[in-house]
Amino acid sequence: MDIFEEIKVKGFADEYIDPSLDLFAEIDRLKKEKNAVILAHYYQEGDIQDIADYIGDSLGLSQQAAKTNADIIVFAGVHFMAETAKILSPNKKVLLPDLKAGCSLADSCPPHLFKKFKEQYPDHLVITYVNCTAELKALSDIVCTSSNAVQIVESLPKDQKIIFGPDRNLGAWVAKKTGRDLVLWNGACMVHEIFSREKITRLKERHPNAKILAHPECEEVILQMADYIGSTTGILKYATNSSEMEFIVATESGIMHQMEKDNPDKTFIPAPPNNQCACNDCPHMKRNTLEKLYLCLKNEMPEVEVPAHIIKDAVKPIERMLEISAKLGL
Ligand code: 13P
Ligand code: SF4
Repeated sequence: MDIFEEIKVKGFADEYIDPSLDLFAEIDRLKKEKNAVILAHYYQEGDIQDIADYIGDSLGLSQQAAKTNADIIVFAGVHFMAETAKILSPNKKVLLPDLKAGCSLADSCPPHLFKKFKEQYPDHLVITYVNCTAELKALSDIVCTSSNAVQIVESLPKDQKIIFGPDRNLGAWVAKKTGRDLVLWNGACMVHEIFSREKITRLKERHPNAKILAHPECEEVILQMADYIGSTTGILKYATNSSEMEFIVATESGIMHQMEKDNPDKTFIPAPPNNQCACNDCPHMKRNTLEKLYLCLKNEMPEVEVPAHIIKDAVKPIERMLEISAKLGL
């Protein structure tokens, strides 16, 4: 029986939740009872961020997953993030509120095709962005995130040939910042490729003092307009430390929650997308809800599993990233 059938049979997905139940209090109670920790990405809905023990970007979340003493990790994020936590803490139970919370970027790099691609460059080292499957990580030499990709590339000798995947936009930005000639896999994130240069230009005309903050998963035409480019943590810190009062934010909308909470006097405007949909939500991240988080903690499923032979190969490039980051104080 696969995991979806099991959920259906056991009825967890449709389990009735008494609407008068205080989910915040219940989650808090279950967390203590089960010695569980809730790790949430900045792209999660506000309620989930508010109940989490730790909110962060991909690097921060993997650092937390590696050091937690909890027996259960509830990963409020997407599948590759929960997999990374499982790889780093294989003896812990790792739960994902919605097992279908995937990632378009991870999907854009099927491991069997990447393996063939890699074979064309036998003298290259493989750096993969953490937004990829566990199987892809197992084919890599070093993993990176958006907050350490530049430093990871710079930590290697200048003449080291490098394949970078799966995000072509992050890869092109890292190549530009480091002056290295990277071989790029042609993958991308559906959320970060949606921003419109024309609409941002018009928005900027109406808000001339607004600083444009962009995630490096955005296309180069957007990054060229940006006053600051960085990971979600970087974007949040930049806005908090800046004396400016207005910001146009070119990344997933979930980050606005902490930006607004930490900076109640400042104005954050989502960068407009190139379609009629007014939101910059990641449909994968937003599959998780407070209700699903409660049920998954209560029922201790769905659980994310990674085969032992994949863990064996995937843990090395992740640990290498964590070691380099620790050395650099990231
Ligand atoms: P960071 O949290 O590392 O900035 O990554 C953003 C992202 O797209 C995660 O899916
Ligand atoms: Fe994947 Fe993009 Fe969603 Fe991040 S925002 S989880 S990269 S689809």
